[in-house]
Amino acid sequence: MSRNVIDVTDLTVEEIGELIAVAEDILAHPAKYQDLCKHKQLATLFFEPSTRTRLSFESAMLSLGGSVLGFSEANSSSAAKGETVGDTVRTVSCYADIIAMRHPKEGAPYAAAQFSEVPIINAGDGGHNHPTQTLTDLLTIHREKGRLSNFTIGFCGDLKFGRTVHSLVNALSRYENIRYILISPEELKLPRYVKEESLKKRGISYTQTTDLDSVIPELDVLYMTRVQRERFFNEEDYLRLKDSYVLTPEKLVHAKPDLSILHPLPRVNEIAVAVDRDPRAAYWKQVKNGKFIRMALILKLLNIPA
Ligand code: CP
Repeated sequence: MSRNVIDVTDLTVEEIGELIAVAEDILAHPAKYQDLCKHKQLATLFFEPSTRTRLSFESAMLSLGGSVLGFSEANSSSAAKGETVGDTVRTVSCYADIIAMRHPKEGAPYAAAQFSEVPIINAGDGGHNHPTQTLTDLLTIHREKGRLSNFTIGFCGDLKFGRTVHSLVNALSRYENIRYILISPEELKLPRYVKEESLKKRGISYTQTTDLDSVIPELDVLYMTRVQRERFFNEEDYLRLKDSYVLTPEKLVHAKPDLSILHPLPRVNEIAVAVDRDPRAAYWKQVKNGKFIRMALILKLLNIPA
């Protein structure tokens, strides 16, 4: 039976540590890995737009010597004719060895996995989860901080619909001594189910605030997020909330000198371009890291020794 990654907790903390170690080795010795997936095929089934996740998966497989197939929008697949995700995945698993799937409906990759003969990776499902972004975030934090424990992290922006936040909170809840500061407008607070299942159940406390300025000096990691326009029910609410937080060089004056600023991207307006020049900005390194952790994950799910 094939192994799927639908939720980040489908991987143990030990396995995540191994993936980070493999990603580091790939970064240091890429040539060692260039043929490991020869004759293997990755299918990317993207029912929702993407730049980083789809292309990093494809680049990952190509750099492992494999090949890629798939579609980048639902309308170019038979989903447009009414085919179910189950039938789509059953079909694609006849052609590919592993599938990365993004879908606007929460739970779609889980449902698809019930019909697949090959490993399914959730590449983002609606406003729910995005486990491979979380692996990217964990690799980035590990590279920037040298640890995955003992720090204060601020999540800022759209914590309600931001699936990368939900997955990262869930993942970090398994590490030691992390302080969570949740910074959002009232309407975009972290969903109750994430607080219950990832934090309260594990006895982890957190602080909620609407004010980034008052907490920024406390942070070791600042995880900025975009307000997710595509998940809003009306445009007026989006327009009212979209610029709730805009990180600028002035706002960073009181931040720690070794702060790490992450953002899953795409960014709209929530980080001023001038911040890109700040050595604390880690989000472009984060983009690059995404390819290498996905290479490690593909190898693991295909049972190919690294
Ligand atoms: N971070 C992320 O999921 O980006 P894309 O939507 O471009 O894949």
